[in-house]
Amino acid sequence: MKNDKTELFEKLKTAKKILFFTGAGISAESGISTFRGAGGIWNKLKPEELANFNAFLKNPDMVWEWYQYRRKIINETKPNPGHISIAEFQNYYDEVVVSTQNVDNLHRRAGSKIVYELHGNIERNYCINCGKNYNSPDFNFTDKAPRCECGGLIRPDIVWFGEYLPQDVFSASEKAAEECDVCFVVGTSAVVYPAAQIPMLAKRTGAYLVEVNIEETELTYRADLSLIGKSGEVLPQILEEVKKIKTT
Ligand code: OAD
Repeated sequence: MKNDKTELFEKLKTAKKILFFTGAGISAESGISTFRGAGGIWNKLKPEELANFNAFLKNPDMVWEWYQYRRKIINETKPNPGHISIAEFQNYYDEVVVSTQNVDNLHRRAGSKIVYELHGNIERNYCINCGKNYNSPDFNFTDKAPRCECGGLIRPDIVWFGEYLPQDVFSASEKAAEECDVCFVVGTSAVVYPAAQIPMLAKRTGAYLVEVNIEETELTYRADLSLIGKSGEVLPQILEEVKKIKTT
């Protein structure tokens, strides 16, 4: 049975290393829209016009303005019980790694210590010419695409469509996938590669794979357990059980 938690709790009793692979759904309850599904950003806007290097070169101000808008939304949000529960897992296991496709920084703000950001971080920017970093809050943002002192355009440090993921972050996520005992896949449609390889690697190398999502995804049939529900509700319940397991 895909929704019987007995085996999960047995695994969580002896597990030493836990991996959380997360996507936009974990931040949905903080008020940040997902990309796909009901109300998804890519239903209304075209990624090829916004999350794309050529689009940026063609119309830097428009792309910059879009990320400024996203930054404002993100700045006003805070971690929800899903992020906070993940951070609390650190009190019960030798290693808790978060490998996230999100750029919103909410895992760190919730207190997670090992966070691998596969798609970058919206608080960071860099010059496309000389590579100089411009990070908030020191960086004085404008509504038009700013320029570096060398004259180059400054872009958000986000992995756009067609770009490579940061190799060190991806390798570290692969290592965590290979080493973890339990891998939670939370709030992701798991359709964007190569990031979506991470949970499959965890499964292939022996981890118990648990999906937490409000609906079934392409990954559901491969998971050992599918927990249908909001991550901000499901994860705190699992954490409560972990507290009992670990103190008896
Ligand atoms: P998606 O928008 O593709 O998927 C979000 C998933 O979260 C869906 O499967 C929803 O069912 C689920 N979901 C929504 N609310 C939830 C909740 N409260 N609790 C649990 N699950 C919930 O987002 P990602 O999979 O993260 O890339 O998308 C991957 C990448 O595609 C993103 O990193 C982004 C995008 O283009 C870049 O910007 C580079």
